[in-house]
Amino acid sequence: MFNAQAFLEEQLPLLRETIRGPAILATSGGVDSTVAAAVVARAVSKDLHCVFVDTGYMRKGEPETIGDLLKGLGVSVHSIDARQEFHAALKGITEPERKRKVIGEKFIRIFERVARDVHAQHLVQGTIAPDWIESGGGLRDTIKSHHNVGGLPADMKLQLVEPLRELYKDEVRKLSRHLELPVSERQPFPGPGLAIRVMGEATPERTEVVREACAIVEEEVDRAVGQGKMERPWQYFAVLLPVKTVGVHGDIRVYGDTIAVRAVQSVDAMSAAYSKIPHDVLERISVRITNQLGNQVNRVVYDITHKPPGTVEWE
Ligand code: XMP
Repeated sequence: MFNAQAFLEEQLPLLRETIRGPAILATSGGVDSTVAAAVVARAVSKDLHCVFVDTGYMRKGEPETIGDLLKGLGVSVHSIDARQEFHAALKGITEPERKRKVIGEKFIRIFERVARDVHAQHLVQGTIAPDWIESGGGLRDTIKSHHNVGGLPADMKLQLVEPLRELYKDEVRKLSRHLELPVSERQPFPGPGLAIRVMGEATPERTEVVREACAIVEEEVDRAVGQGKMERPWQYFAVLLPVKTVGVHGDIRVYGDTIAVRAVQSVDAMSAAYSKIPHDVLERISVRITNQLGNQVNRVVYDITHKPPGTVEWE
């Protein structure tokens, strides 16, 4: 049984020994990176620099709220608007592993720039066990290169500090509750963000479509959970497919994009079962997506694949 207090008692002295001098805390506002930042902030109180990167692939409204959340950790916060940089780097890239590598490298180059400014040698990341297990290397196959592990550039100079490396998501949540952080129940969101929810090239236009579709899925599921119609899935979102299909608006033929809705139950992200969202909730999601995004999307499908054989994200 995971014991949050015992974990802290073991980790804090180790962190104090490791981190001497200024350090960068890579934070996205998600559970893992926020907990990692909070743990390190307990161990070392001086010269900690939380870096939040707006990649242009965050969810609707997210960059605006994360600054306040991070300020609550009591460390200095650097918000970097890197939207143009990420979009430019991903131009023309369609292959999922390539995307992940480009994103991983971009993050590190930005952290290196901040590190130079503040004279930091350490980079704290919220890497957890499934990230490095699925990123392969050694004895394991690479399922997908998590941006914070398999996506790291070979020539990176910063020394990594990963206090949550051996933990699974349910344990990180327990630790988060123990630390009374406001992110404890947030659904997971991958570091590469919406870029891996747009199949094929993640152009700004296609990213906007999936951002809106993700927001609709979240709103409708949250509403249904609030009404007691369903249990909250572990993760729920939309994916924009590279498939166009024929449809009809009024009596006009349209040839539009397809959105897949994905919702899963899981404990530790290593396996997952697709969520059985009630049909009336799925219908509201479908009608809202095709109404609000009617110029682009004319078909909505529901993913009924467990992990394995699927993974949670489509890329
Ligand atoms: P998969 O798609 O591998 O996802 O079944 C398992 C969990 O990990 C999240 N995920 C990521 N998180 N960096 C992250 O921080 C990544 O590169 C990444 N890829 C997937 C995914 O959202 C799910 O919760």
